[in-house]
Amino acid sequence: MAQNIDLLFKEKIIQEYRFKNRYIVAPMTRVSAVNNGIATERMKQYYERYAKGGFAAIISEGIYPDEEYSQGYYNQPGIANEAQKDAWKPIVRSVHKHGSLFIAQIMHAGAQSQGNPHKDCNIAPSVEAPKNDQLSFYGGEGKFPIPKKMAHEDMEQVKQGFANAAHRAKEAGFDGVEIHGANGYLLDQFLTDYFNQREDEYGGVTMNRVRYIKEVVKEVRRAVGKEYLLGIRISQGKASDGEHRWALGETDARTIFESLGNLPLDFIHVTDKDGTQPGFGEGSLSMTAAARQFSGLPVIANGQLQDPSKASLLLEEEEADFVSLGTSALQNPDAPNKIRNGERLEEFDFHSIMLPIADIKDHELKKEVKR
Ligand SMILES: Cc1cc2nc3c(=O)[nH]c(=O)nc-3n(C[C@H](O)[C@H](O)[C@H](O)COP(=O)(O)O)c2cc1C
Repeated sequence: MAQNIDLLFKEKIIQEYRFKNRYIVAPMTRVSAVNNGIATERMKQYYERYAKGGFAAIISEGIYPDEEYSQGYYNQPGIANEAQKDAWKPIVRSVHKHGSLFIAQIMHAGAQSQGNPHKDCNIAPSVEAPKNDQLSFYGGEGKFPIPKKMAHEDMEQVKQGFANAAHRAKEAGFDGVEIHGANGYLLDQFLTDYFNQREDEYGGVTMNRVRYIKEVVKEVRRAVGKEYLLGIRISQGKASDGEHRWALGETDARTIFESLGNLPLDFIHVTDKDGTQPGFGEGSLSMTAAARQFSGLPVIANGQLQDPSKASLLLEEEEADFVSLGTSALQNPDAPNKIRNGERLEEFDFHSIMLPIADIKDHELKKEVKR
């Protein structure tokens, strides 16, 4: 094994949590829960494969935190009540049995919700619908509806929802929580100029647009206590607008990541189309490097990092501490084991995994996982 690829297999300890290597499964929504948000045996088999396949940690699919406006997709799992919490317990146990950590991603869909049986409208920072159409591989069609602007009481309710859900995740046995602040969902809507047209202290300049995220992080930290893994995911692109870039480029990155660096967080997980490429125009820092440089926190890099020599460069240059794999993990649930053995990864086959909808398929569960 080349010297730099070894870096991907060095352990790292954060808090009391031991990551046996630097490979993490990126969060991926698979709309395979019961329609009341209860996680299933099928999901247990699905997550267990990644643990068997050598990933140090798995970040769950986005889990909805409350039974109000947070759910984004039909058949998305929740952690909004005791029954949903209990359903995660056997899944967490089976991941732990194979030596991986399990982190719950808590997600409020906001205006990007396209399937929520609890309410007949969406809420968002402002009366601004997402660009483009709903995602058909999650069962949506046509334009997104125009959301209702959140009042301060709604903001309080959502914040408590995040905190209560994080507490339930801890009770279910998860090793940590990742707050979903990326990809155009509710918290990212607060951060985004065109979604956030508010005229109160939560809108306007970037420093104001990051305020609500800061409040949510602090509330979640209070709920889970000091000695628990807590991170946040940040991106520029959105599920509904992949090309979006922060208007002030690196200046915005500095404002956002410095603010996050002052919070009680254990990591920032950044995602971009390519985690190694300039994030803010030619010659600029990548999102990965910006997160590391401006926050000073451990960073999980994401975006086309399946080639281990490319991924290990991020570690060598101290731009990231971990890499997360999304589509390449879907195709290769045993990616770390294959890479360690010098084997090539299979190319992601969009059709066989994502269509007609992106739920967990029999052929995925039947596939052999190399130990
Ligand atoms: C099927 C699928 C579902 C996804 N669901 C989520 C999600 O629930 N939360 C999230 O933050 N990102 C989600 N993503 C984005 C991935 O975490 C990741 O950022 C993306 O696949 C790019 O990484 P890659 O180049 O390794 O595939 C999803 C991606 C895919 C393919």
